[in-house]
Amino acid sequence: MEIDFVRSRFIKHFDGKTGNVYASPGRINLIGEHTDYNGGFVFPGAVDKGIMAEMRANGTEDTVMAYAIDLKDRVDFHLDDPAGPRASWARYIYGIALEMRKLGVPVKGFNIAFAGDVPLGAGMSSSAAMESCFACGLNDIFGDNKVSRWDMVLAGQATEHNYCGVNCGIMDQFASVFGKAGCLMRLDCRSREFEYFPFKPDGYRLVLLDSVVKHQLAGSPYNDRRNSCENVVKHIQAKHPEGKYETLRDCTWEQLDEVRAEVGEEDYKRAKFVLGEKDRVLGVCDALNEGDYEKVGELMYQTHEGLSKDYEVSCEELDFLNDIAKECGVTGSRIMGGGFGGCTINLVRNDLYKQFISTAKQKFNEKYGHEPKVYDVVIGDGSRKLC
Ligand code: GLA
Repeated sequence: MEIDFVRSRFIKHFDGKTGNVYASPGRINLIGEHTDYNGGFVFPGAVDKGIMAEMRANGTEDTVMAYAIDLKDRVDFHLDDPAGPRASWARYIYGIALEMRKLGVPVKGFNIAFAGDVPLGAGMSSSAAMESCFACGLNDIFGDNKVSRWDMVLAGQATEHNYCGVNCGIMDQFASVFGKAGCLMRLDCRSREFEYFPFKPDGYRLVLLDSVVKHQLAGSPYNDRRNSCENVVKHIQAKHPEGKYETLRDCTWEQLDEVRAEVGEEDYKRAKFVLGEKDRVLGVCDALNEGDYEKVGELMYQTHEGLSKDYEVSCEELDFLNDIAKECGVTGSRIMGGGFGGCTINLVRNDLYKQFISTAKQKFNEKYGHEPKVYDVVIGDGSRKLC
């Protein structure tokens, strides 16, 4: 996306003056799904697509004038209005501004115009890209950049929790803020320690196939999944008062089996997926260290199976895309992100790529009347000021 594209709209829709321009990316995740809010590991990377915003203090105490370029929608609101704006996109701006205030940034009125090229509803975290982009701008304009990167991550997450109704973990905001070109990141969501993993899979590439089934976490059973996991932990804690069980990260397979009858089959299956996924992320790290991409792929298929059968966050279209990948001999394939629509992420050998993409397009089209969208993954940088 070009800076001039955003700048020309900013100038046109406000008072003709320019501001500063910031960008933040969406993300992919190689493996480690629904593990972040369970204190486990994730393996994301930022992508070369995201949100770009031009922002400028407007001299008022609390008036925000906001323009969503892609939607051609203008909303003005007051930061001191406890209800905030109604438009869902504007709630990200309102929410992050209030969260940055909580961190001590004296946010006052500002103008903002933004646009994005990260596909909406594809499970690539367009919302985290917005939060971290706006946080980066507010930190710069009003806060002398004193807020740390981790605090911006947490402010983004708190925006989801407090203003958007999604009880998400920290993976998406983390990836958007900390991303680095060419690197995936392994994050321990409990300790928040992470390392950059240069990702250059010789002979393979990552490609996303977007089912175009809209993925929207607000109002989806995402929060129910989290509640199920927390319920299992509560039961394990009650059985083991001597220990400290905060998340499923702290629990073993034996403990899960102990509470199986009490928590019921549904919650049991959810927790079973999470415990398995925790092990799979570590398996992928070992496999990457050994350059064993076939093993990485095998674990990705297992994740898909678990997300589909045990965690039940897949849908017919995503299972279909996964089946096609298998039939074509693709190394690894699975649902990416929260689920309930969106993309599969596929680890494909270079020599299979063309055939896989054309088969997937043709078969999906035959069944659903449209082709899936194809996004080649380019791993890019995290939140930054452009000018
Ligand atoms: C969404 C959430 C993340 C994470 C994923 C599933 O993207 O925002 O916190 O839980 O789903 O891994």
